[in-house]
Formats: sequence, structure tokens, C-alpha cells
Amino acid sequence: MEIFDELSQLHEATTQAFCDFAVTSIEANGVFRVALSGGSTPKRVYELIAERNLDWTNIHWFWGDERNVPLSHTDSNARMVHEALLDRVNIPRCNIHAVPVDTEAPAEAAKQYEQILRQHFGDANFPTWDLALQGLGDDAHTASLFPETRALQERERWFVENWVEKLDSYRYTLTAPAINSARQVWFMVAGKGKQNALKTVQSGLHSPELYPAQLVKASRWLVTRDAAGS
Ligand code: 6PG
Repeated sequence: MEIFDELSQLHEATTQAFCDFAVTSIEANGVFRVALSGGSTPKRVYELIAERNLDWTNIHWFWGDERNVPLSHTDSNARMVHEALLDRVNIPRCNIHAVPVDTEAPAEAAKQYEQILRQHFGDANFPTWDLALQGLGDDAHTASLFPETRALQERERWFVENWVEKLDSYRYTLTAPAINSARQVWFMVAGKGKQNALKTVQSGLHSPELYPAQLVKASRWLVTRDAAGS
């Protein structure tokens, strides 16, 4: 676990690591494919990435999860990433693969996104992301894999609609195997409110139904000191 005294240090370190990984991936394979996290923690990282000079034509941007709202909605993860990054640099529009949200037919929209992913990743068993960026909720959810929801059981599909009772709404999310298929999975965790979730996910009772982030095999934990509780 990499612990940072300040949130700004976590943001800077994650930005640098992202850019370094993008450069080495493009050098090695000609492309860098990332599944982005929503929420508030990563937003500053996306803003800082926009200030860097990356090979935008060879980076493909996907979402690890999305809310069941139109792109124009303030809760949209796609809107957040567009405002922080994608609308600020010269990224080919064909490199941006947002979830085709359909608030009236989330199951259909999830199937459509899985088709988009399968078209992009070919006949791989699961999407071969270079990087999956993950956040952690204070209830130990990640992406939109919330405690005691159906998506936690999915082992075949890549991307599903997920009814979240406590939110009284559908979410869209990568399934656990479709996150774990990434070459690297990085969690960014900040804030005192995440202490219990982080401790339980990393070393507490193993119960993924209650602590879904335990389903994900993290390569790196980038954590603020107040979240680490140290
Ligand atoms: C989302 C995210 C979600 C997020 C956690 C942490 O759509 O909200 O994908 O899984 O990463 O809820 O969110 P914060 O970074 O805002 O604490």
C-alpha cells in the first residue's frame, strides 16, 4: 500500500504512474486501454492527465461503471471525465467508448456496451485492459459492484446492469472477472470515511458479498494517510 500524507500527493503520484504506464504500453503494444473509475477521487487525476502531453491517438478510454443517467446529467461519470479530461485535449472521438446509457432499458444498454467491448477486445475471454482504475466506497463497493447485489455473482458476462436497492436505481458495471482481466488494477482511496472499508477489504473477514472490492485483485493501492488510518 502506497500511503500519501496529502490528497494532492496521491493525485500527482497517480497521474505520473498513469502517464508512465501509458508511454510504456504504447511503446510495447502500440496502444493503451484504460477502464476509468467514476466518483470524486479520480477527477483531479483526470484533470492533471489533461495537462500532460500524451500520445492521445493511441489511448482508448472506457468506463468501468456508469450511473443510469443521461450524459448531460451531473451524476454521469462520462460527463465528469469529459469535463475533466476528454474535452480538454485532442483525443480522437473514436477512442472514447462511453456506456450507451438507456435509462428506460438498462439491460439492453449493458448488452450493447458489452458488444462494444467485445468488438474492441476481439475474442479474448475477458477485456485485456492495460489498466483498470478503481475507487472504493465506504461500503466497500468498487465500480458499481455494491454489497448484496446480483452483479457480484456474474462470472461470464463482462458488463451488466445492476439494480442497487439502497440507491433505488440501476447502475452499470464491469463484472469482477472483467476488472481482474486488466494487466494492472489500481485502487485510489482517500478520506477518513474509507478507513473501515479499506481495513476490512484488505485484511478483515473475507466476505465479498458484503465487501465487494474483495473480488478485485489489486496491483496497487494508492491511499491517503487518513484513509489508511495510520
Ligand atoms: C462511481 C464509482 C465508484 C467510486 C466509489 C468511490 O461511479 O461512483 O465508480 O465505485 O469509485 O464510490 O467514490 P469516491 O472516489 O467519490 O469516494
